[in-house]
Amino acid sequence: MKAEIVIDKNQVISDIDDRIYGSFIEHLGRAVYGGIYEPGHPTADDMGFRRDVLDMVKELKVPIVRYPGGNFVSGYNWEDGTGDKSKRPKKMELAWFSTETNEVGIDEFQEWAKRAGSEVMMAVNLGTRGADEARNLVEYCNSETDTYYANKRRQNGFEKPFGIKTWCLGNEMDGPWQIGAKTPMEYARTACEAAKVMKWVDPSIELVACGSSGPGMKTFGEWERTVLRETYEHVDYVSLHSYYGNADNDTPAFLGSSLIMDKFIKEVAAICDEIKAEKESDKTINLSFDEWNVWFHSNEQDKRIERWQVAPPLLEDIYNLEDALVVGTLLITLLKNADRVKMACLAQLVNVIAPIMTETGGKVWAQTIFYPFLYTSVNGRGKALDTGCVCESYSAKDLKEIPYVETIAVLSGDEKQVAVFAVNRSLEEACELQFHLTGLEGYKPVKHIALEGDDLKASNTAQEPDKVTPVEKQLGEKVVLAPKSWNMILMEG
Ligand code: AHR
Repeated sequence: MKAEIVIDKNQVISDIDDRIYGSFIEHLGRAVYGGIYEPGHPTADDMGFRRDVLDMVKELKVPIVRYPGGNFVSGYNWEDGTGDKSKRPKKMELAWFSTETNEVGIDEFQEWAKRAGSEVMMAVNLGTRGADEARNLVEYCNSETDTYYANKRRQNGFEKPFGIKTWCLGNEMDGPWQIGAKTPMEYARTACEAAKVMKWVDPSIELVACGSSGPGMKTFGEWERTVLRETYEHVDYVSLHSYYGNADNDTPAFLGSSLIMDKFIKEVAAICDEIKAEKESDKTINLSFDEWNVWFHSNEQDKRIERWQVAPPLLEDIYNLEDALVVGTLLITLLKNADRVKMACLAQLVNVIAPIMTETGGKVWAQTIFYPFLYTSVNGRGKALDTGCVCESYSAKDLKEIPYVETIAVLSGDEKQVAVFAVNRSLEEACELQFHLTGLEGYKPVKHIALEGDDLKASNTAQEPDKVTPVEKQLGEKVVLAPKSWNMILMEG
């Protein structure tokens, strides 16, 4: 099989916002306790953060991390996670039916994020709470005034504001599973009033309004229109969330998941522009795809988890090679839509549907999905170039014309490197990737990294952490993508 791509220096989709490589840490399962934080661990630092985990997060170069939820945020009292640790309340956590000790809160997390080289994307509780607590939290985090919440932060040992720039107005408020779920208009009004006062406290912040929890929601479309009509002047982004799975073990269809993501992005962008036209506004609302990943492996085992445990092993999907191929195509899709998707968060980062896994008290290792994320995050910065890939396609389940090969090219900021990311979805056939270069004459492949293998169900574990790892391919006359493979080809002039 052959696939032809054109890499034209002038066919720029957009500058890539680095925050497209964001991720997510929720107070859920072992993401915080036993994940990023474990004071008794041999690698723990002075604040109890696991240095082995921090090192792997730094390797991924995650520019922004969403916190503290997720569903968790909709029942959260942020004050519980501030100040003297010995006085913090232990609470019944109703999103995941666990016990929350509040040993870690915003005071600690903002420091963890600094140590990880990341910014915090902070979500406020619009489930059980509203504008009042949201504006207090902005004051606590960002204000230099001589006022109650800014002074509380100082009393808690933080003279300087945390300077959190990006804020989410609640989480998945359209979902019946959400604590304090709302109708489109209930949420739209709550979000509008919260947004106003949050920006009055700190006009420099950016706000993300909740979009639908997925394209399958009954209110999808109506939700976005209602929310944007009410909040347009006050918000900067609308969120998208989606998880993909292979519960029916239909690999060809699963490998086509990125087509569903692409359609969702285009539909939400179109709705944003429809409301822009309706309002005759000059402002463009961009997209924050702030939860995306493969999630299905742990669904059954999670039903058996006993309630009210501290940090139970929830959502611990063990990822295999085919999941990594899907994650690779989802990253390519985010890059293909870099003109509208300015932020995205791989959900999540540690232990909970995550690229990084730990044993409490023990090892840390990389899941298969770690690798496409790593290479794309490190090399996929600069300008996204449309490649217009010409190749054969197939149909599976409800999806028609799934191209066998998915590609994107990224020109680095200094224009010294072009990184081509490519997934070959064919289960049987290798594919020769032919390049036509315009404005990039003389650029040649200098490195080809691939994640490939015979066993699509192979995964990494604590015992076998390196079962599925990338290989460096020999460079020859031709660039060949193995069947069922994720690839990065670096070119230099
Ligand atoms: O990431 C896991 C959960 O998925 C989040 O808490 C929620 O927002 C979504 O439903």
